[in-house]
Amino acid sequence: MNQNELKKLVGQKSVEWIDDGMVVGLGTGSTVKHMVDALGARIKNEGLNIVGVTTSNVTAKQATELGIPLKSVDEVDHIDLTIDGADEISADFQGIKGGGAALLFEKIVATYSKKNMWIVDESKMVDKLGAFPLPVEVIPYGSQKLFEIFEAKGFKPTFRKNDQGGLLLTDSENYIIDLHLDQIDHPHELADFLIKQVGVVEHGLFLDRVNTVIVGRQDGPEVLEA
Ligand code: A5P
Repeated sequence: MNQNELKKLVGQKSVEWIDDGMVVGLGTGSTVKHMVDALGARIKNEGLNIVGVTTSNVTAKQATELGIPLKSVDEVDHIDLTIDGADEISADFQGIKGGGAALLFEKIVATYSKKNMWIVDESKMVDKLGAFPLPVEVIPYGSQKLFEIFEAKGFKPTFRKNDQGGLLLTDSENYIIDLHLDQIDHPHELADFLIKQVGVVEHGLFLDRVNTVIVGRQDGPEVLEA
């Protein structure tokens, strides 16, 4: 199976955790896209009655087209389960997210979810975090100052660009600075440092959040409980 087939495998597997009547957080990314397709199929074929809470404009568009009823995080009193992708998951179940620039809404929805599930192909499982650049969402005003602070710390920052070569804007019209750290030895300390910097809106370290991980492996999906 190639990487996309592994993503499809876990996307389809994950919807088995969704029961009638649930409020479900819908993540973002190419793996989640398969999950949303599979959820749409269950709604169509089984008449499953769920409410989705999306984490990006892209997922909201896909879910709407599939007839999945949606509410915003502020309109629901709870979220039963959020299913999302990840860019890296370490052996102790910490994660980096935000490769698709949706980390802010993803973290908000994850925070208000009773349970969080990540679905990944096996290439995302690592011993230690950091080979994947860590995204930091920042307010445009003052972002050059933040860039300089990150540079002085040796974080090797780069501004994320869009397909046209300009600076990428998130759904909240912020910038992303990616930190090329290679290895993150102390993720909690780094998270504390980043969130304390004025102008940082959120970062892509998702620590102590996930309950279940489904890994797409060549011999089938592997379910891990954190
Ligand atoms: C979106 O901002 C990310 O957090 C994604 O969940 C993550 O990048 C995984 O994406 P893929 O499923 O496309 O690999």
